[in-house]
Amino acid sequence: MSSQTQGVKRLTVPDIRNRKGKTPLVCLTCYSAPTARIMDPHCDVLLVGDSVGMVVHGLPNTIGVTLDMMILHGQAVMRGATQALVVVDMPFGSYEAGPEQAFENAVRILKETGAQAVKLESGPTVADTIRYLVQRGIPVMGHVGLRPQAINVDGGFKAKGRNDAEREKVILEAVSTDEAGAFAIVVEGVAADLAEEITRRVSAPTIGIGASNACDGQILVSDDMLGLFDWTPKFVRHYAELRTEIGDAVASYAKDVRDRSFPAQEETYFAK
Ligand code: KIV
Repeated sequence: MSSQTQGVKRLTVPDIRNRKGKTPLVCLTCYSAPTARIMDPHCDVLLVGDSVGMVVHGLPNTIGVTLDMMILHGQAVMRGATQALVVVDMPFGSYEAGPEQAFENAVRILKETGAQAVKLESGPTVADTIRYLVQRGIPVMGHVGLRPQAINVDGGFKAKGRNDAEREKVILEAVSTDEAGAFAIVVEGVAADLAEEITRRVSAPTIGIGASNACDGQILVSDDMLGLFDWTPKFVRHYAELRTEIGDAVASYAKDVRDRSFPAQEETYFAK
């Protein structure tokens, strides 16, 4: 079959699945076209995470994020990315009612964004939904351990697996997600030995966030690792301090404007 997008060669869901136990998967969250263009050459997966609600829209948590927001940001990322696999998060309330609701909303995401897969926060109660989606041609990434959409049940963003009962629960979440057919599983906020056990017990590659190097890959919220906030979780290494750089740049601009040293006359639109 001929294709109108021949120049674009994206990583595929099987490519990501086949990386189990091999070179670690490089994944970042991404929410806009220009950042997608910058991150794309370095990443295997760009996740349009529902963290967009917190880091871009200033919401207190991810509960208020809507399907329309996810689709809008998914479209933007797809315009900027050409080689990474793009996955879009299903927001709270868009899949929990059951497989048919999840199918309808996942189809909207794939059709309206062009992304290749969806992610949902998973576990035994969601396993049937994952199976239903996968059997109908929708690749699913799972998400176990600290599940931000469970904030109201958990009473905050809490690391998981601190005692035996919790450990068993997280292992069950991961194994049921794997058996349901997820092609990769995000493992968030668990200790290294638990991440290691999950990674050993599931056939899908695990992607850790605050879950040690034991996983098959890593993901971070990009705005956190770029240093855009004055507070980030302890495990996040800052690879840049953009908050300071942006603040300094805006202060320099403000000074130029107030000193009337900007724009220099010859730099206007009308310069020859
Ligand atoms: O929404 C998000 O950014 C995520 C990552 C934390 C994995 O789900």
